[in-house]
Amino acid sequence: RLSLELPGLSMKNPIMPASGCFGFGKEFASFYDLSLLGAIVLKSATKEPRFGNETPRVAETHSGMLNSIGLQNPGVDQIIAKELPPLKRYQVPLIANVAGKSEEEYVEVARKLSQQEQIAAIELNISCPNVKEGGIQFGTDARTAASLTRKVKDASKKPVYVKLSPNVTSITEMAQAVEAAGADGLSMINTLVGMVMDWKTRKPVLANKTGGLSGPAIKPVALRMIYEVAQCVSIPIIGMGGVTSAQDVIEFMLAGASAVAVGTANFVDPFACPTIINDLEAWLDKMKIESITELVEGSFKE
Ligand code: DHB
Repeated sequence: RLSLELPGLSMKNPIMPASGCFGFGKEFASFYDLSLLGAIVLKSATKEPRFGNETPRVAETHSGMLNSIGLQNPGVDQIIAKELPPLKRYQVPLIANVAGKSEEEYVEVARKLSQQEQIAAIELNISCPNVKEGGIQFGTDARTAASLTRKVKDASKKPVYVKLSPNVTSITEMAQAVEAAGADGLSMINTLVGMVMDWKTRKPVLANKTGGLSGPAIKPVALRMIYEVAQCVSIPIIGMGGVTSAQDVIEFMLAGASAVAVGTANFVDPFACPTIINDLEAWLDKMKIESITELVEGSFKE
């Protein structure tokens, strides 16, 4: 009842941990069997290893958190050599998230990861708000985003999902541009740029000053953007932004998301994903529907 098919992804349920909120799975594997998940989105990979930004690089708010990690990761070669092998034992499609400083870097990282048999799809991160070069620039201009999408599509052996930034004037323009450039799907939304101020030190809490806001605070923005984008594209949307419960998942699917990623909630409760998956069944009964896919079809295109 919970299973679904998306480009490159045969999922037993619509739930996946969001990029950057699950590392490469090691820590969560000590809590539950990762094969329970619909898919797993890995932390962004870049060409070279990255140490990330200076600390403090996380700050909490009443309804969410901000981070300015700065794409910390061991680099694509090390990810392939060390992080992918332990994930082989789980029966779950892996989505590799790709970031870069230039088109060439994105293309090279996407090519390497898409050649891995273990990788089912690529997620293109054109929306990291925390790096000086090659984060959000690729995701705020429609022509730049489309050009990158086309190049990565040409280099990738696997379907490409483009992760959209909410920090734009028109999310629908961005969505349509990357769809026309060949994107197989969208994932949205990434974090909203924000700031936390400390009145005692009289300075912003984050060393980087600004960071990406995630968690329940951004859920209504995510729902609005997914709803608007779903009306004007015909590729599937992986929805995310403040999801903490099965009810949130239902709401995202009614807005037009075909699958749903859980991000910040994993830090609050490591069992967030399995709990949501477990609760979804009861929601189908309550809504008198046979298959989870009915939710999306019913809402897609009015
Ligand atoms: C980072 C990347 C993101 O895409 C995001 O939304 C927040 C943080 C990062 O690694 O800094």
